[in-house]
Amino acid sequence: MDWGMKNRLSRIIKPTTGHTLMLAVDHGYFMGPTTGLERPWEAVKDLVPHADTLMLTKGVLRNCIPPETDIPIVLRVSGGTSIIGKELLHEGITSSMEDAVRLNVAGVAYSITVGMPWERDTILDLAQIVDMAGEYGIPVVAVTAVGKELGKDAKYLSLASRIAAEHGAHIVKTYYCEDFEKVVDTCPVPIVIAGGKKLPEKDALTMAYNALQTGAVGVDMGRNIFQSENPPAMIQAVKAIVHNKATPEEAYQIFQEKKK
Ligand code: R5P
Repeated sequence: MDWGMKNRLSRIIKPTTGHTLMLAVDHGYFMGPTTGLERPWEAVKDLVPHADTLMLTKGVLRNCIPPETDIPIVLRVSGGTSIIGKELLHEGITSSMEDAVRLNVAGVAYSITVGMPWERDTILDLAQIVDMAGEYGIPVVAVTAVGKELGKDAKYLSLASRIAAEHGAHIVKTYYCEDFEKVVDTCPVPIVIAGGKKLPEKDALTMAYNALQTGAVGVDMGRNIFQSENPPAMIQAVKAIVHNKATPEEAYQIFQEKKK
């Protein structure tokens, strides 16, 4: 692996703990002005100091994030469909790697939709993105997007995660599920979990803890942070789990204290 690739990976997964807290705020690329992200910089400016990476689209990065912001960027490079369209998650490539380089990204993120009628398009695009990004030493985070028709169980998520890794992803982003260790055990690259829909804070912290305990290297969490009743307190609680081995109870106490 080239020095540039290793360097970028170490900016995403922190060598000090081997873990990562990725803050996902890319939801607008198919959901529009998502609750909590109506004004992106307002939403993230107090969260950035506690996150290891910021995952977002080039439009929000260029227009809303001050260029002097000191945080590694994971750029979403898939899209093309919306929540009101007929083929949600039938995504294609939305950025050249030259543009990703111009934006000085630490990594790019691409969604695959295993099991959907267009799975072939998204998996082949992932393989292409891996080659294109590899030319510049940029790691690829493959997101295992799950259509409504598909279950988020260990059987499906291990299939999708393994397929992502087989096509060259450097990190796989998937969902936490029962028997999550099976998903981790059969995936040869590091796994991070998405948070999914907003949960009560204690439940979201427990999910993050369980994922770390069963082998995830971290979280790529969005709504459970920026839709929290107190996002800065929540991200610090998640950080305690990801980097400081806090239990869900300890992390929840941090949430309560920081909220004051
Ligand atoms: C969806 O595919 C987006 O990439 C989100 O970044 C991802 O779902 C993580 O956000 P959340 O924790 O809100 O699920």
